[in-house]
Amino acid sequence: MAVNKFFKILKSLRLGILVACIVGIVTGILAWYQVQREREIDLEDINRRAHALVYQISFPVREAIARPENETAKVLGSRLEGYGRLIGFAVYQPDGTLIASAQSVSEFAEILNSIVGKVLDTRSEVMEIVRTHSSPVHILAVPVLSDGEVPIGTVVALHDISYVDERVMNRLIHFAFWTLIVTFLIVTLVISATWLAYDRPLRHLAQWMRRLRLENAGDAPPSGLPIALLKSESDRLAASFRAARSAGRTKSRAKVHAERVWTRNRLRAHVIDCLGENCQLIIVSNREPYMHQLNGGRSRIIIPAGGLVTALDPVLKACGGLWVAHGAGDADRENADTSGRLTVPPGDSRYTLRRIWLSREEEQGYYYGFSNEGLWPLCHQAHERPMFRASDWNYYAQTNHHFADAVLEEIGPGKAVVLVHDYHLALLPEILKSSRPDIRVGIFWHVPWPNPEAFRICPWRAEILRGMLGADLIGFHLQQYCNNFLDTVDRMVEARLDWDHFAVELKGHTSLIRPYPISVRSWAERHVASGGDLDLQISELKRQNKLEVVQIAVGVDRIDYTKGMPERFRAIARFLEKYPDHHGKFTFVQLGAPSRTHIRRYREHIAELEALADEINWKFQSAEWKPIRFLVAHHDGPTVYAFMQMASICIVSSLHDGMNLVAKEYVVAQESGDGVLILSEFAGAARELSDAIIINPYDTEHFADAIYHAAEMEAGERKTRMERMRRIVDENNIYRWAANFITDLAATQTLETKTGIMSTENSFPKMH
Ligand code: F6P
Repeated sequence: MAVNKFFKILKSLRLGILVACIVGIVTGILAWYQVQREREIDLEDINRRAHALVYQISFPVREAIARPENETAKVLGSRLEGYGRLIGFAVYQPDGTLIASAQSVSEFAEILNSIVGKVLDTRSEVMEIVRTHSSPVHILAVPVLSDGEVPIGTVVALHDISYVDERVMNRLIHFAFWTLIVTFLIVTLVISATWLAYDRPLRHLAQWMRRLRLENAGDAPPSGLPIALLKSESDRLAASFRAARSAGRTKSRAKVHAERVWTRNRLRAHVIDCLGENCQLIIVSNREPYMHQLNGGRSRIIIPAGGLVTALDPVLKACGGLWVAHGAGDADRENADTSGRLTVPPGDSRYTLRRIWLSREEEQGYYYGFSNEGLWPLCHQAHERPMFRASDWNYYAQTNHHFADAVLEEIGPGKAVVLVHDYHLALLPEILKSSRPDIRVGIFWHVPWPNPEAFRICPWRAEILRGMLGADLIGFHLQQYCNNFLDTVDRMVEARLDWDHFAVELKGHTSLIRPYPISVRSWAERHVASGGDLDLQISELKRQNKLEVVQIAVGVDRIDYTKGMPERFRAIARFLEKYPDHHGKFTFVQLGAPSRTHIRRYREHIAELEALADEINWKFQSAEWKPIRFLVAHHDGPTVYAFMQMASICIVSSLHDGMNLVAKEYVVAQESGDGVLILSEFAGAARELSDAIIINPYDTEHFADAIYHAAEMEAGERKTRMERMRRIVDENNIYRWAANFITDLAATQTLETKTGIMSTENSFPKMH
């Protein structure tokens, strides 16, 4: 325990200890160097002094040596006494015999003999420092020369230099003392500065985050955070907490009002209420809801595959209004008036479709090029490299203007609320608002919004963001995409951000950013077959595809590399490998609608899938059974419904998907509550449909086990899970989605006169 405590204290003081060590080592080295330097100076000083003394003494020595031998010692004796720190002199004859010396020199006799020997050998002076048992001694021996430069003797001067060592010691003690003081002061300074600059603000930040999490505190983040980035991250965190809490409140309110399911009649009444008289509701998207295609020389209507049409057609059918879209069908012109208008659905006119005609170059550059080879892979993390070409961008911008002209022409001088859809028309909000600031414009992004690092590679990122920020309301499926979007704007556009209310102000115009998870309506409203007719259709489809005696799993997708279809096929193969009992008893039917086939990657993807399905079938099939039925065609609603009805499992394995309405369509198709949904964790729908079997499509082993789990699931569990999911989709159907979006968009009008960013979240009531 005590050891632990010691280590704990050591840990908390580690910065101080580190600084102390560094300061101690550095000042220690400096002090050592300084002391050595001063010691050398002292020795040089002694040396100088010894030379001076020897020089001084050499004249009387020379004179004494010249006297008769018995007088020399006597004369020198009196001369060699009495210099401070001088131990003494000694004088030697040229043959090395001592002539005279001071008393105290006698103890060095041996050393002196050797030094004098060296002088005689070299005929030059010798300086040595010798250490006796008592103290260090500086010895200088210099030859004495006659006038004729003949050596006549040697003078030796001996100095006690113990004081040099004493001074070294004193200085070291002195330095050590000051090193301690300086280290202490620096450590105190560093620790206090760290505490003031980091520890204290971080402690406050932690307390504030705790309050935010637990107490719904509305106070601003603590000031004094040293790093701007941290500060802005803390703002975002606060915003996310608030958004999460408000989503939580929304959910609980939704529970209370569960009986208030939105219907198309309720939506119609609400929209009239919300928009007022004489206000047009306009939807703009690239994809049209009804397409005329030539088939054997005759035109037939098809409803294009894709979530956008599935979701929005019921909204306009309920509310009436206008849908502006690209007329992409090869028989579209013949089935519209000269302005491209027609009423739809055919035979049951509920709203007007205004088709826009694009040249082949425009379609190639704007739709296939910039939208689907650039923005589509950019927004989806499906490992497909986006392609950005300047010519595509020019067509993209030009076509957005083209759409704007048509919308403005349709609005005329009247009032309108315009709902722009998806990544094809990012510039439209700004173009519309610059001509008609009075109309309400919302844009809903049907695909994910990537993080800023991913988005920044787009060469026209700022233009796209500014285009979108022309809208009064910007909608995404998930809160996470809203966060990513705001983060992207924060880094790439000079705009004022309000993370508290998820709003951006650019050039005096405010856009709100909100999540609206899109949804579907019930199958019953689509007039698909039911009862005996449905049974007949199902048994016919089973017969055609040899599905009479097998358990059926189904997948329904536009053929797109984001949908994770190869991963799905591989998981089925692995499932059959791991669980051979299911051979002959399980078939997976993949309904695949060809899509964007002018893009090579899409054509290759179809070929890749066909080859993979063949390979797997070849490996496992028997005379009467195939594990995979890959049906590549445009399948109409009734066919999709029939397959969903007969399948006890539906597999959605998107690698990345904004929402994925197939998952929700399967749930609403399960009137008997019996099916099992396998759903990718990377599809937006997984946030709401947590009772599905959630998979990571890249994890084949786990995916295969999930298929086994779904195939073997007990009826009770199947029902419980499906009932919960059905309740969620029923309560949050497409009518509620539209009501929420339109209500929020209309509410921006009431705040139009306000300058700056909206002040309260409650200004934008949600429908429940
Ligand atoms: O979920 C909606 C969506 O994926 C749209 O983003 C897209 O426009 C549509 O489905 C289908 O794609 P396309 O219009 O290219 O056929």
